[in-house]
Amino acid sequence: MQRQATAAAPDTPDAGRWTQIFDYPYHRLPKILGQSEYAGERIALHVGEPGVPPPPFLAEIVAEQSGLWGKYPLGTGTPDYLQSVADWLTRRYSFPSGLVDPGAHVVAYPGSKEGLFNTALAAVMRKERDLPAGQRPVILIPSPGYHVYFGGSLLAGADIVPLPLDEENGFLLHPEALPGEILQRTALLYLCTPHNPCGSVTPMARLKELVTLARAHDFVLVSDECYSEIYFEAPPPSILEAAAARDGSFDNVLSLNSLSKRSGAPGLRCGFGAGDAELITVLGLQRGYVGTQVPGPNMAAGAALWRDEAHVTEARAFYAEGVAVAEEVFGDFAGYSRPEGGFFLWLKVGEGEAFAHRLWQEQGVSVLPGSLMARPYGECPGDTRPGTPGDDYIRFAVMHEPEKVREAARRVAALL
Ligand SMILES: Cc1ncc(COP(=O)(O)O)c(C=O)c1O
Repeated sequence: MQRQATAAAPDTPDAGRWTQIFDYPYHRLPKILGQSEYAGERIALHVGEPGVPPPPFLAEIVAEQSGLWGKYPLGTGTPDYLQSVADWLTRRYSFPSGLVDPGAHVVAYPGSKEGLFNTALAAVMRKERDLPAGQRPVILIPSPGYHVYFGGSLLAGADIVPLPLDEENGFLLHPEALPGEILQRTALLYLCTPHNPCGSVTPMARLKELVTLARAHDFVLVSDECYSEIYFEAPPPSILEAAAARDGSFDNVLSLNSLSKRSGAPGLRCGFGAGDAELITVLGLQRGYVGTQVPGPNMAAGAALWRDEAHVTEARAFYAEGVAVAEEVFGDFAGYSRPEGGFFLWLKVGEGEAFAHRLWQEQGVSVLPGSLMARPYGECPGDTRPGTPGDDYIRFAVMHEPEKVREAARRVAALL
């Protein structure tokens, strides 16, 4: 369980919310790992920081645009930045020219995280408009999944239903199995493709089915696509393509992406949300009240990064080499399967927390136990399994130089 559980069983839903803010996973990790006496070189694999630095032109543009530090940035994005994103989407997903209207379909965000959070607030308001009084909006989140899906939904006041991702369902979401009463109250479904931490890519056919479901129940389908450019075979499809393939519109869907992984620039805080025009309008209005804008110099550099693919091709090759090296070590291990995208291995090792502790103590390697990213099975209606879908796993980040990845993989393998 990941809750802090600071109070006795809450007697109202809102009291429950108050007690459910739990430690950020990285804050809980040191307690699980403990102090290590390991004498050799330690290797950190628990964070998802990109291993490839951004191209030098990023810093050059930020320096050239230093005059913009004295100005408030445009909250929803400069026309040039929005155009660079619309052009990138059009090239990447082979959309007909003009389908993505930068003014109507795109909003700038300081990273996908802020978009994930803000969309929960907007989607709950949207659903409240339609639900009978007294009914609470629901948000569906993948479990395991990035912690902001849970935190954003909690702070937005939604009832949260985690959808377990496991071997049985191929690490893909199947919300249609939920009771109709839940789907009718659903305000938002978070999807992540390529998925952190499972490495699964949701195929186009499944994306289309999810679009159909979102439209049938009129919920917002948010696809967290911040790992979309880190792949090893075919480029992962986007929820935008699936929506457009249905009827040429982006109704009910939002894709979130950023330069953090694609361009190795998480410090730039530069990304976007793209999709449903009505939702984008509300998200744009929301920017007037809350959240940091992308600073002007960063947005100028960001536009140039979206316009360049050479550095992205190099980064992709770097992660592909890391995965290949790890696969040489883990290839025969039954708990390994090659990720389709992103830069994480989701290794089934048996008790993940105990394994992570031993690994840190005996081998000086830090990884994230899967339980820290997952919610209990029992929180999904009708699921009576004990524990969480992450309990048997560790997340191994492939972001170091290949030789370091090999060394880390050998040390993990020593405990398998
Ligand atoms: C799945 C996922 N979504 C979103 C983010 C947030 O990234 P950013 O806000 O830098 O785009 C991360 C960061 O690690 C992530 O792993």
